[in-house]
Amino acid sequence: MKRIDVALGERSYPILIEAGLLDRAGAELARFARGGRLIVISEETVDAAVGGRFRAGLASAGLAAETIVLPPGEGTKSWTQLAALVDRLLALGVERSDHVVALGGGVIGDLVGFAAAIAKRGCGFVQVPTTLLSQVDSSVGGKTAINTPAGKNLVGAFHQPALVLIDPSALDTLPPRELRAGYAEVVKYGLIDDADFFAWCETHGADLLAGDDGARVHAIAHSVAAKARIVGEDERETSGRRALLNLGHTFGHALEAETGFSDRLLHGEAVAIGMLLAFRFSESEGLCPPGAAARIAAHYRAVGLADHPRKAGITGPASRLVAHMTHDKKMAGGKLPFLLAHGIGQTYLDRDVDLGRVETFLTRVLAEA
Ligand SMILES: NC(=O)c1ccc[n+]([C@@H]2O[C@H](COP(=O)([O-])OP(=O)(O)OC[C@H]3O[C@@H](n4cnc5c(N)ncnc54)[C@H](O)[C@@H]3O)[C@@H](O)[C@H]2O)c1
Ligand SMILES: [Zn+2]
Repeated sequence: MKRIDVALGERSYPILIEAGLLDRAGAELARFARGGRLIVISEETVDAAVGGRFRAGLASAGLAAETIVLPPGEGTKSWTQLAALVDRLLALGVERSDHVVALGGGVIGDLVGFAAAIAKRGCGFVQVPTTLLSQVDSSVGGKTAINTPAGKNLVGAFHQPALVLIDPSALDTLPPRELRAGYAEVVKYGLIDDADFFAWCETHGADLLAGDDGARVHAIAHSVAAKARIVGEDERETSGRRALLNLGHTFGHALEAETGFSDRLLHGEAVAIGMLLAFRFSESEGLCPPGAAARIAAHYRAVGLADHPRKAGITGPASRLVAHMTHDKKMAGGKLPFLLAHGIGQTYLDRDVDLGRVETFLTRVLAEA
């Protein structure tokens, strides 16, 4: 079993990674069941896929848990579902010493984490992520949130879990498109500051997507260790270090907004194209020697990720994409902070990017055949 620790003083916690961990969850959760109760919260699709295995895993250690199953989908991260969930937790008599277990992807992790942050002013919380995106990104770091009419993830809290249990075999039932979208966030860690890991992705990414256990464990452990390190340095995104995790997300957000945050473009798919655009923009500004973007695009093609906004059905105009980027962001004189790159594994935060130049760049990109 691989163990990675998130070092946050008294809020430190371990992340355990092993194929088959779902079936042995009881052994890992027993210590929480001694001082309080476990309440498992999942959603219908996840419950059908892995709920039985997880409950059997608890039962084999003699643990019992209430289970609450919510509807699947991004719409569940809402005020309505949050209120209903907190009311149910309170009706169950949840105490601060109890642990709420989020069994699911990023939607369940974000919603349940937020409910755990506010019920009784904060009760215990365990993440059992079941998508690649949640295993390498959202389950670690303590960001929780819901969506509101004003936008995505604008209401939430920092609430660190007490434990994260990652079972790569949970990915066996994940639709291939979701798996590939989550893989974009794996590639992200290489592009941010780890050229060797990007090279590993070039060699082994296809194996990971084909379900190779060794590749999955390696990629998840490496990604989680990178995120744990960054979160340990900048828990609340105040120093700018944690902002590096948003590589590709400003361009990507514009693409997602362009599709109305619909299934036409999954978050990870948008981030993949967004990272490529960040590299291409860096090259066109002379900040990054030519070649990096072409290498990234070649890897995307090798694993089946789109390497151009047009392949995701985005045609512009560029002015509207730029408008999406600036929507509800503080702007100083037509400038926006952007994550740019000097090379693969050499990204940095540029606080002063001229949006006119971004628009010109995007106009050129969108005119490509
Ligand atoms: N808190 C953070 O730091 C953070 C970081 C990144 C993303 N997020 C949030 O995460 C969410 C996206 O997460 P996601 O991509 O995991 O979405 P998700 O939870 O909606 O899961 C994606 C799809 O896979 C299904 N699914 C999940 N596990 C499965 C399994 N094992 N087998 C079969 N199907 C399964 C779900 O039902 C859903 O249809 C977004 O709301 C995003 O805002 C949060
Ligand atoms: Zn992301």
